[in-house]
Amino acid sequence: MNIVVAGGSGFLGTALTQALTHEGHTLVILTRGSPSALPARQGVQYVSWDPNGLTGPWSRTLDTADAVINLAGESIAAKRWSADQKRKLRESRLLATESLTRAIREAARAPSVFVSGSAVGYYGDRGDETLTESSPPGTDFLAGLARDWEAAAAEAANVTRVAVIRTGIVLDRKGGALPRMLPPFQMFVGGPLGSGAQYMPWIHKEDWVRLVSWTTTHEAARGPLNATSPNPVTNAEFSKALGRALGRPSFLPAPAFALRLALGEMADALLLSGQRALPVRATDLGFSFRYSTIDDALASIL
Ligand SMILES: NC(=O)c1ccc[n+]([C@@H]2O[C@H](COP(=O)([O-])OP(=O)(O)OC[C@H]3O[C@@H](n4cnc5c(N)ncnc54)[C@H](OP(=O)(O)O)[C@@H]3O)[C@@H](O)[C@H]2O)c1
Repeated sequence: MNIVVAGGSGFLGTALTQALTHEGHTLVILTRGSPSALPARQGVQYVSWDPNGLTGPWSRTLDTADAVINLAGESIAAKRWSADQKRKLRESRLLATESLTRAIREAARAPSVFVSGSAVGYYGDRGDETLTESSPPGTDFLAGLARDWEAAAAEAANVTRVAVIRTGIVLDRKGGALPRMLPPFQMFVGGPLGSGAQYMPWIHKEDWVRLVSWTTTHEAARGPLNATSPNPVTNAEFSKALGRALGRPSFLPAPAFALRLALGEMADALLLSGQRALPVRATDLGFSFRYSTIDDALASIL
């Protein structure tokens, strides 16, 4: 297939595009940067774009695309959430998605699928409530952002199949949240964050890549899909599993007030709240996870 991936240069995009080229697909990666600054890869063409809500010369790449995947957006955890940063988090996702849906609607031949990013933040902070794709959204900043992001993607639904991937916490040795969690454990001072009761909807990076790749070809996969393992754990359980995997203690809690002091609003949204989200849609449609327990996932990663 010819696949266009927006934001394909990032943590998840790099892993996904490597797997897709390995499977024999031909890729176009849309990047805001200069194509020559990115590493040359067989089967990958980089094309510059300006994700400003409008189409541009880059849109022609969609005329021959079989699938379009949207992973573009300002990094959620890179900076403290000032009002300006929150605006960037929202606009970068909404405008990029709007540019893509416009280009899809105007393409000479519409792609057969548009797979667009979303996040389990859609559900907000929900304690130990079991969450499926049909659960209603939350009310906080990330929930509002995810809801609007999904609505922007749905603008392409009258011309193509639209699937939105509600990604959980993607676990990998080199990128995402896990490398940031390791240092306290490695220094023998690891433990739960805050009360540790919040659920962590984790997923192994390999399963995330497999799920997104599967979604591109699986006709019945449309609408929201939780990209989370079938066995989410509480943060306290995760800390214990991490301690076991590293052979380190895991009983020293990081107090909520210290996290809030260090990270501001982001601490509550990303570390102290949680979602017990289950991948009901994908499982019902026959997708099987390679890593379904946290011990197996951490053993493979660490
Ligand atoms: N990693 C996770 O655990 C996780 C969890 C839930 C949801 N997600 C979502 O999944 C998507 C991919 O995640 P990731 O971890 O791969 O993110 P990432 O490493 O930050 O990559 C995102 C890509 O988006 C592009 N981008 C960055 N800032 C942008 C902006 N202001 N406007 C438009 N494009 C911009 C960049 O590509 P160029 O510089 O080449 O343009 C970048 O490579 C994100 O939308 C993220 O919110 C990730």
